Amino acid sequence: MTYRSPRGTYDVYPGGGQSQEPHERPELWAWAEGVARDFFRRYNYTEVRTPVFEEAQLFIRSVGEASDIVRKEMFVFHDQGGRELSLRPEGTAGVVRAYIEHGLYKLAQPVKIWYMGPMFRHERQQKGRYRQHVQIGTEVLGSADPLVDVEVISLLYAIHQALGVKDELVYLNNLGDLETRRRYVPELRRYLDEHESELDPDSKARIETNPLRTFDSKDKNTQALLAEAPKVGDFLSEEATGYFDAVKGGLEAVGVPYAVDERLVRGLDYYTMTVFEAKSAALGAQDTVGGGGRYNDLVEELGGPDMPGIGFGTGVERILLAANAPEEGAKLDVFFVTLAPEARLPAFRLAGALRAEGLACDLDYADRSAKGQFRQADRAGARYAVVIGDEELAAGVCSLRDMTTGEQRTVPVAEGTEELLRALGA
Ligand code: HAM
Repeated sequence: MTYRSPRGTYDVYPGGGQSQEPHERPELWAWAEGVARDFFRRYNYTEVRTPVFEEAQLFIRSVGEASDIVRKEMFVFHDQGGRELSLRPEGTAGVVRAYIEHGLYKLAQPVKIWYMGPMFRHERQQKGRYRQHVQIGTEVLGSADPLVDVEVISLLYAIHQALGVKDELVYLNNLGDLETRRRYVPELRRYLDEHESELDPDSKARIETNPLRTFDSKDKNTQALLAEAPKVGDFLSEEATGYFDAVKGGLEAVGVPYAVDERLVRGLDYYTMTVFEAKSAALGAQDTVGGGGRYNDLVEELGGPDMPGIGFGTGVERILLAANAPEEGAKLDVFFVTLAPEARLPAFRLAGALRAEGLACDLDYADRSAKGQFRQADRAGARYAVVIGDEELAAGVCSLRDMTTGEQRTVPVAEGTEELLRALGA
């Protein structure tokens, strides 16, 4: 009996070489997370961690009953107390729940939040689409300043660019406020009703429940029909149009490349006003690297005060697929090569002393010959090998070998690690 990881999931593991997908390589995760963290520090965002499961109702209320996520993709289960819970399909609902639960609206606004963690959607697996994926996300709550929209979008773009996402363009739309939607949706529905027989079955089913989502149809006929459909842009209030102009002007001022896409509606129901998706032409079918938008009614909808919000979520797997992944650099400073059993404990202690100074060290735990240990030092990408045998032990020294040049020198260690640290350039 052997086991495999569940369908739609993957492992991050060492040593897979060329056959490994970028998101299976551990060092790329550390790199991506480090880059993102540094941007969040510079933009003054605070990390928030919420549970990976919540009451299912939280997602149903926020993401929307008619959305694909709630209709077919949630991992719902009952706990032993009979409560209906769901693994989180996305991060916004949990963050907004926490914002309300802990009264964060009483802090100085806006509250700028970031998070990173796994999300769960029961989707058909393909390249760039998994049942467990990891999002880096932000939520900015408590401000309806269009410059916040510009900050959130440009932060998403900056992180992508720092991670080397290729051929990226941000698609932008404005869905208007509820009033706009109230005027627009019946017009769209009327148009779809008139052409019902020409629509694909999925889109047909959506006329009643969620007509905006017909814009996501991949069906050629439906797409052609929708090209002629009424556009939400024609229904925007003066205020929403002015807001959209301010966001566009801001993106131009900071040099984020964007294109207005009047058919962009997004797959979650909580959006109002600004919506956006960052796509990479380097990806295949799943080309959306990140997306987000405003949700000015969601906090109130979930039982909080009337507070606006905006955020983005970006899939780390897709970032890594769309990026120029860096080649692995040297990982270890020192690998210890011991030539006699008595040298092992002194080597182990020396490794501990170097680790305490911040150096990355390792030693042999597989009873290798001297030659095998040097080979292992090489495989591990060590900059130096520290060699200890009977002679070194007797003299209170070690031999330090530069693994690139092969140069070897003797360094005293009986009095402490100072000289060794200097020789290692630490
Ligand atoms: P979303 O567009 O559903 O938005 O997901 C955000 C990103 O997560 C996508 O652009 C994609 O990169 C990644 N993603 C989503 N599903 C999968 C999957 N099955 N496999 C791999 N990657 C995936 C949200 O989730 C919103 N919460 C974003 C947001 C934050 N809006 C406002 N604030």
